[in-house]
Amino acid sequence: MNLIDYLPVVPDFPKPGIFFRDISPLLANPIAFQHAIDQMSLLALEFEFSHILGIESRGFIFASALAYRNQKGLALARKPNKLPQASHRQSFGLEYGNDSLELQQAALPADAKVLIIDDVLATGGTIVAAKKLLESAGFRIAGALSLLEIRFLNGLQLLNQHQIEHKTVLT
Ligand code: PRP
Ligand code: MG
Repeated sequence: MNLIDYLPVVPDFPKPGIFFRDISPLLANPIAFQHAIDQMSLLALEFEFSHILGIESRGFIFASALAYRNQKGLALARKPNKLPQASHRQSFGLEYGNDSLELQQAALPADAKVLIIDDVLATGGTIVAAKKLLESAGFRIAGALSLLEIRFLNGLQLLNQHQIEHKTVLT
C-alpha cells in the first residue's frame, strides 16, 4: 500500500501558491489509516519518551491513536484561547499566516519526556514552536514524529538547527 496515494495535493489552498496535502482520503480508508498508525508507531519505538504531545488540530488525530497504540500519556498543544488554564504560549509563522500554540503546565508530570506528533512537516515552524512551548514549561523533549514531510520546504533543516530529532513515514 502506498500511503502517499491517500494524501492528495490540493493546489492553491488555503492561499494561491500553497500545495495543501489533504489527509481526508487517508482517514476515510481504514486500511490506509491503520497502516499509517502502524508505521508511525514503529518509528515512535525508536524514541525514548513517556508522553506524547499532539498539535491541534490534525496532529491530534495521529497523536491520539499513537498514545493508545504505544500506551503513552497524551497532552495537547492547543490553538489560542481554548485551554482553561493555559500557562504557556508560543507564537510562530506558517506558510499561510501566523498562529500560536498553548499548553497547560498541569497537562504533564514534571519528569515527562515528550514526543511531539503532527501530521505534516512543512516549514517546521509548528514543531519548533511546540518544542519551545515544552521547554518554556520545563519539560524534556524526546523528538518529533510526523506522517509526511514536504521536502522542498526544508523543515528538517530548521528542526536540525533547533536540535530536534525528527522521524517521518513519508518524504
Ligand atoms: C498544518 C499541519 C501542520 C503544520 C505544518 O497545520 O497540520 O501542523 O501545518 O506546517 P509547518 O511545518 O510549516 O509549521 P495547520 O496550521 O494548517 O492547522 P490544522 O492542523 O489545524 O489544520
Ligand atoms: Mg496542523
